[in-house]
Amino acid sequence: MKNYPEIKSVLYSEEQIQKRVGKVATEIRTAYQDEGKFSTASPNSESLLVVGVLKGALYFFADLTRELKLPLSMDFMQVASYGDETVSGGDVRIVTDLHTDVKDRDVLIVEDIVDTGRTLEFLVNTMTERGARSVKTCTMLDKPSRRVIDIKADFVGFTVDNVYVVGYGMDIAQKYRELPFIGYF
Ligand code: IMP
Ligand code: MG
Repeated sequence: MKNYPEIKSVLYSEEQIQKRVGKVATEIRTAYQDEGKFSTASPNSESLLVVGVLKGALYFFADLTRELKLPLSMDFMQVASYGDETVSGGDVRIVTDLHTDVKDRDVLIVEDIVDTGRTLEFLVNTMTERGARSVKTCTMLDKPSRRVIDIKADFVGFTVDNVYVVGYGMDIAQKYRELPFIGYF
C-alpha cells in the first residue's frame, strides 16, 4: 500500500466502508421503528443510548451515529481482554465504565469486531444485569470462524475470514487505528 508500506492489502476501502455503514444505519433505524420506538410521533420519549466500545469502535461509532437519524445519546465504555496481543485471554474486564444509568433504556452496543464473542457476551450481560429495557448489538466486522461463545451481533457490517485486520479504529499493539481503510498484513 502506498503511504502504508507495512499493509499488504486493503480488505475494505473508505468508500466501501461508508456505503456499508449507511446501509447498516438504515437496518438499525428500521428495526427500532418497526418496534414503534423513537418515532417522531412521540418526541418526548427517551432517546436511544448508543454505547461505543473504546477504542476500536471510535470511527464506526462516529460514522454510524451520524447516519442513524434517530434521537440518541452517546456513552462509551472501555473493556480489555487482550493486552497488546492478538490472542484472546478470555477474561473481560471494565477499564472505563459508562457515565449513564442504563436502567430502562434501549441500548445499542457498537463494536469494532466480534472475534471469540467474549467481549460482546460480557457487554450484553452487563447491560442486561443493569436493567436495560432492550439491548441490541452492532459490529463493523464479524469473524465467525474464531467464535468461542455462541453469540451473533444483531447488525453486522462485513463478515471476514480468519485474518488479523487493522485500521478504521482497529489496532495491533495500538498501531494503525488511524488508517481510513481496513487492511491486513
Ligand atoms: P472477542 O472478545 O474475542 O470477540 O474480541 C473482541 C475484541 O478483540 C475486538 O473488539 C477487538 O478490539 C479485538 N480484535 C479481535 N480481532 C481483531 C482483529 O482482527 N484486529 C483488531 N482487533 C481485533
Ligand atoms: Mg473492540
